[in-house]
Amino acid sequence: MLDGSDRSITLAVRALRAGSLVAVPTETVYGLAADASNPVAVSRVFAAKGRPADHPLIVHLATGASLARWARHVPEQASRLAEAFWPGPLTMVLERHPSVLDVVTGGQDTVALRVPAHPVAQRLLRAFGGGLAAPSANRFGQVSPTTACHVCDGLAGSVELVVDGGTCEVGVESTIVAFEGDEVVILRPGGVTGEAIAGVLGRPASSAARDTVRAPGMLASHYAPATALELCSDGGVARRAAALASLGKRVGVLSLERTEAPGAAAVWDAGGDMAAFARSLYHHLRQADVEALDVLVVALPPDEGLGAAVRDRLRRAARRPAP
Ligand code: TXA
Ligand code: MG
Repeated sequence: MLDGSDRSITLAVRALRAGSLVAVPTETVYGLAADASNPVAVSRVFAAKGRPADHPLIVHLATGASLARWARHVPEQASRLAEAFWPGPLTMVLERHPSVLDVVTGGQDTVALRVPAHPVAQRLLRAFGGGLAAPSANRFGQVSPTTACHVCDGLAGSVELVVDGGTCEVGVESTIVAFEGDEVVILRPGGVTGEAIAGVLGRPASSAARDTVRAPGMLASHYAPATALELCSDGGVARRAAALASLGKRVGVLSLERTEAPGAAAVWDAGGDMAAFARSLYHHLRQADVEALDVLVVALPPDEGLGAAVRDRLRRAARRPAP
């Protein structure tokens, strides 16, 4: 485990240049990074995660200045979004430059690109100089890591170095957008809200129909803890928790709004703060397993702002459609 010191950055860059994997903090979740121009290094990412080869990776860059080296064509709307949201939690799917490796794109003719804002990621990318292919630093299908400890818990033995940059500020993954003619399509809601994107474009972006495998990583079951999740409306959560507890179940409650749930073994709420709810979401999904809960009853937050991303992840974690 390395801290964010200059010495650590030097060691991490050396490891990446040698084709090793390095777990890196970003403002969304920790990434498992490999040199995007080294096919052997990138293939190690798939092995470490247990991820199918046709699930493409996001390439992380220090700035948008080198975009033309990765994308054959940058639509005008993409330039505007990059200007507004980079560095930050936005990933753009663009036509790939012919030099981008097949192992990175899963053989697709597009590449996903992002400029992360986390200061440690920024320093590492600037020192490295090239692109870093990095999925979230967890085993395929499991909950994404928002601390260096989470990375070690999930990937111990398969990652050479972990750079500790503290707890991720956003806590859910980046928003992924694609460009189809004049349309901007949100493939995965995330840290940049749909409202903020609409504000820059001057009109709403469209959303990909849920569970279409346009972004192949977007499987219906993903981000899942071992504990069963039950999704409820905000009002129904305490009642449902009480009913389950009366059946002898060990129940946890997770909600945006302040909640009292007598009989629950754990009650986690974010006091109405949506950013705090998103930031601690994956921590609490992990805690449900640590606390050996039978069920975690979750109040779905409103479908606005960061709530859209949180709802998306909760639905996938629950492995079944929400009410
Ligand atoms: O916040 C994030 O995006 C984090 C941090 C580390 O940057 N990364 C992340 O990566 O969430 P990953 O691999 O867990 O999810 C990337 C998603 C997958 O659903 C993948 O299918 C999609 O991006 N993706 C990658 N390349 C794509 C492409 N060319 N077209 C469509 N979807 C793509
Ligand atoms: Mg992931």
